[in-house]
Amino acid sequence: MTTPTEIISDAQTSEEKFLRQIMVRSQMKSFAADPLIMARADGVHYWDINDKQYLDGLSGIYVVSVGHNNRRVIDSIKQQFDTLTFSPVMHGTNPLAVQLANKLVEVAPDDMAATKFFSGGSETTEAAIKMARQYHRLKGNASKYKIIGRYHSWHGSTMGSLSAGGLKSRRAVNEPLATGFLHVFPPTCYRCPFDKQYPDCGLTCASLVNDVIDLEDPDTVAAVIVEPIGHTGGIIDPPEEYLPLLREYCDRHDVLLIFDEIITGVGRTGEMFAAQTFGVTPDLLCLGKGLSGGYAPIAALLCRKHIAEAFWGDPESNPGFVEGHTFEGNPISSAAGLATLSEILERDLCANVRTQGERLRAGFESLKKHGIIGDIRGKGLMQCIELVKDPATKEQFDPPIGQAIGRRALENGLISRFDPHWIALGPPLTVTGEQIDQMVAILDQSIADVLNGAN
Ligand SMILES: Cc1ncc(COP(=O)(O)O)c(C=O)c1O
Repeated sequence: MTTPTEIISDAQTSEEKFLRQIMVRSQMKSFAADPLIMARADGVHYWDINDKQYLDGLSGIYVVSVGHNNRRVIDSIKQQFDTLTFSPVMHGTNPLAVQLANKLVEVAPDDMAATKFFSGGSETTEAAIKMARQYHRLKGNASKYKIIGRYHSWHGSTMGSLSAGGLKSRRAVNEPLATGFLHVFPPTCYRCPFDKQYPDCGLTCASLVNDVIDLEDPDTVAAVIVEPIGHTGGIIDPPEEYLPLLREYCDRHDVLLIFDEIITGVGRTGEMFAAQTFGVTPDLLCLGKGLSGGYAPIAALLCRKHIAEAFWGDPESNPGFVEGHTFEGNPISSAAGLATLSEILERDLCANVRTQGERLRAGFESLKKHGIIGDIRGKGLMQCIELVKDPATKEQFDPPIGQAIGRRALENGLISRFDPHWIALGPPLTVTGEQIDQMVAILDQSIADVLNGAN
């Protein structure tokens, strides 16, 4: 019998038949010209259909938190397959989903009190927006509906999450987007849009959030949504005062603070949540990606006690949280989530993230010898280098160099996240020091290759 891998191998010789029929996330023609098709994985390694090995410097895409081929997760999913694979979501739930909800509330910061499950990040951030609006309505403030997001941010692909996000390239092709969304500048200190210098800047990027709420009229603003560390803008790691200030402004105006921790959640910053890393508790917290380690799709929205209680009213007058999806709290996905959390907690992977995060930072520092690294940003196992032609002036490469280095790294066996002007690494939380060194060594070689004229 022909294996799926053998069938896909033909794709490279029969592009017409196979690769035109799958719409991948990247540009389809470019993908078909040089397709990356993975066949198997183990630990922090992938092998493609030609048996080429790659170091997974990106956990798939910040998903494979506990490594590939993790036996604990696989065994618990297998066991769950023999017990219950789907439960009636219209009428109830299943024990695994309840256990996972309880576990998440237990490990979450402060008074997080309830969990709503989803299949992916976009559903979750979109639901956070809906929860904020429904909460205010239940509290008698139905006029509070506006959502303040940030430029350069990414909260997902569904219309609401896309409208909250601030990525021009993804928004423009889908316009008109939903109404009721405003955007402010994120804390991109390395290239401050206000031409100021931290710490003497007075945190204009934060105080403008307060001003916007004020000028829009607080009675019309429902929530502020931010990634604690912005990803798509090039790992935007805020100064320590920034998130506490947002918390203060939101409290001042009865506006909910939503953290999109779809990437930063579940250990990536060296604590279970970035909320703990920064010491700021949001009202709503979105997590996804690493929650199931990639073994089954699951994401979750956590809310604090005062929010949960608002939805816990008399059934005659309170409809609860009006939101739901077919696969929410799926037993297989919940089993994956529980086993992944057990791995992270019992192996103290957050401690490993802190240790390896420092090693990664040191590795990135060592790459400064190439003279093209202007800034290093991020926390734990979510860090990037910003590439500049001249670190003294911050002048950018024109044309940009990031994609060439990222693609070269791929050829040299490293999966990274590359943009025109920055490259990020986010390996599994299980990564070892030796593997971090190998990743940095490949990046080192790839930068040298490109500076020496390789494409
Ligand atoms: C910060 C952030 N929020 C939301 C999403 C959307 O998640 P999903 O792709 O699972 O819908 C992503 C996806 O990359 C993300 O990085």
